[in-house]
Amino acid sequence: MSETTEAATAAERNTSADEAGKAVFSVRNLWKVFGPKAERIPHDESVTGLSQAELREKTGCTAAVRDVSFDVRKGEVFVVMGLSGSGKSTLVRCLTRLIEPTAGTLEFNGDDVIGMDKDRLRELRRHRASMVFQNFGLLPHRTVVDNVAYGLEIQGVGRAERRARAAEMVTKVGLDGLGERRPGQLSGGQQQRVGLARALAVDPEVLLFDEPFSALDPLIRRDMQEEVIRLHSEEGRTMVFITHDLNEALRLGDRIALMRDGQVVQLGTPEEIVANPADEYVRDFVRDVPREQVISVRRAMRPCKKGEADTGAALEPDTLVVDAVEAVARSGEHCRVVENGRTLGVVDNARLLNVVAGLTGEEDGGEQKAVAAV
Ligand SMILES: Nc1ncnc2c1ncn2[C@@H]1O[C@H](COP(=O)(O)OP(=O)(O)OP(=O)(O)O)[C@@H](O)[C@H]1O
Ligand SMILES: [Mg+2]
Repeated sequence: MSETTEAATAAERNTSADEAGKAVFSVRNLWKVFGPKAERIPHDESVTGLSQAELREKTGCTAAVRDVSFDVRKGEVFVVMGLSGSGKSTLVRCLTRLIEPTAGTLEFNGDDVIGMDKDRLRELRRHRASMVFQNFGLLPHRTVVDNVAYGLEIQGVGRAERRARAAEMVTKVGLDGLGERRPGQLSGGQQQRVGLARALAVDPEVLLFDEPFSALDPLIRRDMQEEVIRLHSEEGRTMVFITHDLNEALRLGDRIALMRDGQVVQLGTPEEIVANPADEYVRDFVRDVPREQVISVRRAMRPCKKGEADTGAALEPDTLVVDAVEAVARSGEHCRVVENGRTLGVVDNARLLNVVAGLTGEEDGGEQKAVAAV
């Protein structure tokens, strides 16, 4: 992954320089195998290479997570995406050992999660990494405020304080005036906001979302996505977000891990995944994405020809192609891609059209060569 694309992550926008980019979760060679004698599977080379179907046939086991490694960096929205059954829920539940991993290492801020005893695990789940579930998990007989306060109650926070904090969260997620209702008196979207407020109330370092919005209708879903984006940009809280919806992944993710059959087949920024899919599976996944809305001129540009470096309007490297098309049309010539006063390359009509047509990726030039040529 290039340093330049990393520079645009929320981690660096929202956290101090020395904190940004630090791993919150650090996952190495993680496996979760369901089935008889599951623990031998990760270490048995005669079966680790088998497909899911072959593995099931031969051993009766399912490797829901297979040899997965990644870091979730402080301040980022880390999206786990994949089709149904690809292992997303299992992976995220392994992070706080709601599901016990079969093999591999797992750290939270440098602490070994696998080695944690019951008390420390409880502390991890209650204070440091809160989960927002798809089915909201609300208590039907309690009011909204008392549902939101629930996590604080478990922590032993006194009634007055927890109700005050809960009321603050209710406002934060846009439920002002509904605090005394019960969940049954709320719409699906409102219930999901209660779930979100409850997770936020304990002020966790990381929020883990397992397809929280998939039961919501599209308009409310969009609303909730915007809520997450707003909360994230206001607070810079680290988030791990599962979805099988590519548009949701592209909208929310600073980085996306794309899973297939328990493995991470590609990990990168939305732009990297769309511009440069790792294999046919990923290419298929992103086929219908409007590329001009994801790819920036940093990736689309070509080297300057003679004289071009001093002429044409200047664009920031992060300008999306869709906006650059307009700028190029307005200027009637090429535009320069300028960073800190230095021209990195240029984009013109032909170059931008290539992106829209899917002809520009790392393989045909991309950023490195363009920079090298300046
Ligand atoms: N307790 C279990 N016992 C056996 N197999 C399981 C168990 N839980 C999950 N699996 C299997 O592990 C694989 C991954 O399941 P998982 O729930 O993680 O997928 P997912 O990506 O979250 O899917 P979805 O999008 O449908 O929620 C599936 O093949 C599933 O059948
Ligand atoms: Mg799931």
